[in-house]
Amino acid sequence: MNWWAKWLQKDEAEKIIISPDGRLKCTFLLKNSQIYYSVTKDNKSVVNKSRLDILLCGEEPLKSRLKLIRSRTIRHQETIEMSWGEDRFLDNTYTESTFYLGETTKKRRIFTLRFRVYDNGVAFRYEIPPQPSFSKIIIAEEQTEFNVDLNSIAWQIPAYQPDRYEYNYERTNVYDLKKSVHTPLTIKTPNGFYLSIHEAALYDYGSMTIKLNEKDALFSDITPLSDGTKAHVNLPFQTPWRLIMVADSAIELTTNRIMYCLNDPPVGDFSWVETLKFIGIWWAMYVGEWTWAPGERHGATTVHAKEYIDAAVRLGIKGLLIEGWNEGWEGNWLENGVNNKFTVPTPDFDLEEVARYATAKGIEIVGHHETVGFVDNYENQLEDAYNYYAANNVHYIKTGYAGSMITINGHREFHHSQAGVRHYQKTVELAAKKKICLDIHEPIKGTGLERTWPNLLTREGARGQEYEGGAIGPSHACFLPYTRLLSGGMDYTNGIFDIKNNVKYISTTLARQAAYFVTIYSGMAMAADRPFIYEERFPELFNFVREVPTNFEKTIPLSGEIGDFYVVARKDRFSPNWYIGGVTDTSSRHVHINLDFLDEGVYKALLYIDSEDAHFRDNPFGINISEKHVGKNDTLDIYMAPGGGFAISLKKI
Ligand code: NOJ
Repeated sequence: MNWWAKWLQKDEAEKIIISPDGRLKCTFLLKNSQIYYSVTKDNKSVVNKSRLDILLCGEEPLKSRLKLIRSRTIRHQETIEMSWGEDRFLDNTYTESTFYLGETTKKRRIFTLRFRVYDNGVAFRYEIPPQPSFSKIIIAEEQTEFNVDLNSIAWQIPAYQPDRYEYNYERTNVYDLKKSVHTPLTIKTPNGFYLSIHEAALYDYGSMTIKLNEKDALFSDITPLSDGTKAHVNLPFQTPWRLIMVADSAIELTTNRIMYCLNDPPVGDFSWVETLKFIGIWWAMYVGEWTWAPGERHGATTVHAKEYIDAAVRLGIKGLLIEGWNEGWEGNWLENGVNNKFTVPTPDFDLEEVARYATAKGIEIVGHHETVGFVDNYENQLEDAYNYYAANNVHYIKTGYAGSMITINGHREFHHSQAGVRHYQKTVELAAKKKICLDIHEPIKGTGLERTWPNLLTREGARGQEYEGGAIGPSHACFLPYTRLLSGGMDYTNGIFDIKNNVKYISTTLARQAAYFVTIYSGMAMAADRPFIYEERFPELFNFVREVPTNFEKTIPLSGEIGDFYVVARKDRFSPNWYIGGVTDTSSRHVHINLDFLDEGVYKALLYIDSEDAHFRDNPFGINISEKHVGKNDTLDIYMAPGGGFAISLKKI
């Protein structure tokens, strides 16, 4: 039989791809021109037989008389070094199988499916090379199923809603996911596995949301463009990786780093990137003392900026964010934002003078661009706006896209559509050119791009503390490590110590605000309260905030359950010191911490713990601060009050 005749016969294929440790197995199946995959762990089902399809506009589905042309399996073993983050070294060890598929009809269309099976997850993507008959495609739908048991529990936030990713996590059954939800979508299966369905390396494509299809299987509902299609792409093209993280416990899930491994190494020299802790001309606006808009109580004045720079120096904090410094905030800023000028300061703010002053004092200014979602207006000024900051020695910018939709090329688009994805990427790449780091608010969700673009230091993309005062409660920060934070760091705006202010009553204890600097990782971490609160009222607790690093060598998740509590230890990147943080929901809790992860030797432990009578509502300021010497054979028994938490620093003596 010649090769052609043989190939024509290969319309059925089955191949099992086995993880390096042998426990996770992914089966690829081609039958009757339909591709399927399934996943098991220890021979128990994780994802049942699921279809893989891509539908193109104006083209028949990519599966007319489909054959497997060839397949190839390799074992990859690599340790990746990240320049900043929660872990310096990531294990990128997997089994990869690539399936080259082709049609035997006249069109002879070809494409590839690439699978990577790790010990703790499975990833795959579609790769479409230039075709004999066309070089551009419009994706009508991607039908990637994730056919998990319908009785699984899911923790989710809704997609396509006006507040983007800013919703409270809800626990539902998978059979209730009739409307699209965002990823990472964390799931517990009836046979006890914890999964999170997400994507990695999202470039030039609509972001994946998830819902049940007509066959009652979860599938990829790709965010549409305003023209109703999912993406317009040139060939060759590859979809983002579809990623299923798999763990035996909720706490194990929290350090799944496959997402970063699936992204490319940095493109160029990023040795100039440094993580940053910063205060801001910010929370004073939230509590009504100052305003973003010019006027009597304008926050971003030259005078205030210099005062805050001096305060940053005294506090030992490296950065200062200044919001509301430019023209466009007057009146109804959400509507007027279309006129925002990103190179024109208000008359009472002299950017050049402030920047000079900051540089002389060794403080980094964090610039601010609130686009209000008017991307066209922003893109018209992008190059000038970044040049303006770069010329004034500003190396960090917080950007914002408030509003339910963004306007691109005159069209109202979802933030998480292909148009949005392209725009956010443009800002990251331009910022990299100008040696600027970004903290993106109202962002596109994280898919690990910071491995390739380390100047993308953090993003928001969930409810942060600005939602305090009623819209979030103590369980919110107990959901984040198991859900949102699987997609990367978050600027949660930690460290609000003025808990009982007149405007916003924060649902926290004092110690918990210090804990956030450990439990919610961010490459740019904000100490969000006003400096006088730190200096005059809580200088002792602020010592922890000053010292806690923003770049870690190693992260060890200690204990937790989704939405209930979370305890984590992290080792500083540049010293032998460790930091432990914990948060709980409205229930009090005792946690037992075994310090066996420490190196040999003695550590001075400083403990910031809720007092026995502390309570997020009734006694939020109840805190005990103590000191003791510990070593790797010791254990700590720590109390967390309702809505509370704790922070511990362990400094090697
Ligand atoms: C929403 C952001 O989350 C917040 O940090 C910012 O201050 C406002 N938008 C105004 O830009």
